[in-house]
Formats: sequence, C-alpha cells, structure tokens
Amino acid sequence: MDDNQRMWEDRYASGGSSPDGAQPHPEVAALLDRPARERTGGPPTALDLGAGTGRHTLALAAAGYDPTAVDFSPSAVRTITGALAERGLPGRALVADLRTWTPEQEQRSGPDAVPPQFDLIVAAYFQHDLALLRRAAEWLVPGGRLLWITHAPGSVEGPPPTVPRPTLQETVAVLEGKGLDLLRAEQVRTTDTALDVVVEALRPR
Ligand SMILES: C[S@@+](CC[C@H](N)C(=O)[O-])C[C@H]1O[C@@H](n2cnc3c(N)ncnc32)[C@H](O)[C@@H]1O
Repeated sequence: MDDNQRMWEDRYASGGSSPDGAQPHPEVAALLDRPARERTGGPPTALDLGAGTGRHTLALAAAGYDPTAVDFSPSAVRTITGALAERGLPGRALVADLRTWTPEQEQRSGPDAVPPQFDLIVAAYFQHDLALLRRAAEWLVPGGRLLWITHAPGSVEGPPPTVPRPTLQETVAVLEGKGLDLLRAEQVRTTDTALDVVVEALRPR
C-alpha cells in the first residue's frame, strides 16, 4: 500500500466518509434526473471510479442502474457493499487500484459479474492522470455516456494532488482522440475556492 492509498484507507477505516459529503454531486444528480438509457436484457450498467463511500454508487442504484463501484480502500468498499445490501439495492463494489484495473480482469459470475463495458461511467474527484481516462473511454458501450468531474489545476479545494491536475483542454483532447462526442466541457466554479473541470461525453453508436 503506498502513502496515498494508506491515507484513504486510514480515513475510511476510522469511520470517515468521502470528503464531499453523502449527497451526490449536483452534476451527477442532474444526470440521474434524466431518464436512464433504455437497454434490453436488464438495467443499464454504471461504473463509479474512485467511489469512496459510495454516494454516487447508491444514487445510481436508486435511479435504476446496476452499478459497479471501484476504490482501492477496502474499508470504503465494505461501506458501499453494506449500504447496498442494507437498502436492498443492486450493484457491487470492488477493491482495486485504478492505475492498472480493467473490467476484463474480473472473473466473477452471477450477480457479482462485472460487465466488460458500461452504459454510464462516473468519475467524481478521482484525481489521476489521463491514462485512466484513456482506458475508461474504451469501457463505454456504443451510445454510453461518461461524466468526468475533477478539480481544475489551481483549484485550492481537494486533497493535495498526487499527479498534476489535468486541464480542461488536456481532458477534452483525450476524449476527442478516443472518438467520443463531447456534450459538455467546461470549468465550473462550485464554491469560492473550488474550480471543477466537468466533461460529459458520448461514445458514438
Ligand atoms: C476525493 S475521493 C472521491 C470519492 C467519490 N468519487 C465522491 O465523489 O464522493 C477520491 C477516491 O478515490 C480513491 N482512489 C484514489 N486513488 C485510487 C486508485 N489509484 N485506485 C482506486 N481508487 C483510488 C480514494 O480511495 C477515494 O475514495
């Protein structure tokens, strides 16, 4: 476990929650207010990257998605698993390091099976370099949607970055390079001290 993982695990193991509270981020809430994508053969699938204690995983499940949460903190994942079970909601939470994880490496079956691709991918304040974004773009089904929210460079809120925070332009360039259609790409001032990069994109059918 490196220092960053230890910092998060210690936070969650001592009963701490994700830094941004229990309510979904307004951008995620707004997205979930819109009807979920229709799909045959089951509910639409969703992936919550760096899920923390699961505010978005739970909201996704409550909104009719079958969510998969990934976080490298075992305590956070236990919290999500317990909350899903307690509320009778579908979904699963996995302990994995997103610097290397891919959905294909999961060999689970039954209700714990991890889909290889998703109808919706949400990443909120998962601060990492753009390598994950490049890979995540490939985990969308045709017509699938990505909502990517990060602290912008220079934003003073959020934990100290372990890698330089990508700019809006760098984020957009990755998604365009992957052939995604950009629905939205902007910097949003969420508080006096926080500036977020918010990007929503679709994988063409
Ligand atoms: C700022 S929290 C955001 C939590 C959640 N997305 C939210 O918006 O409430 C960042 C999360 O990313 C997780 N994380 C950081 N680096 C990770 C990595 N390499 N692999 C998996 N999870 C990671 C941390 O454990 C933490 O829960």
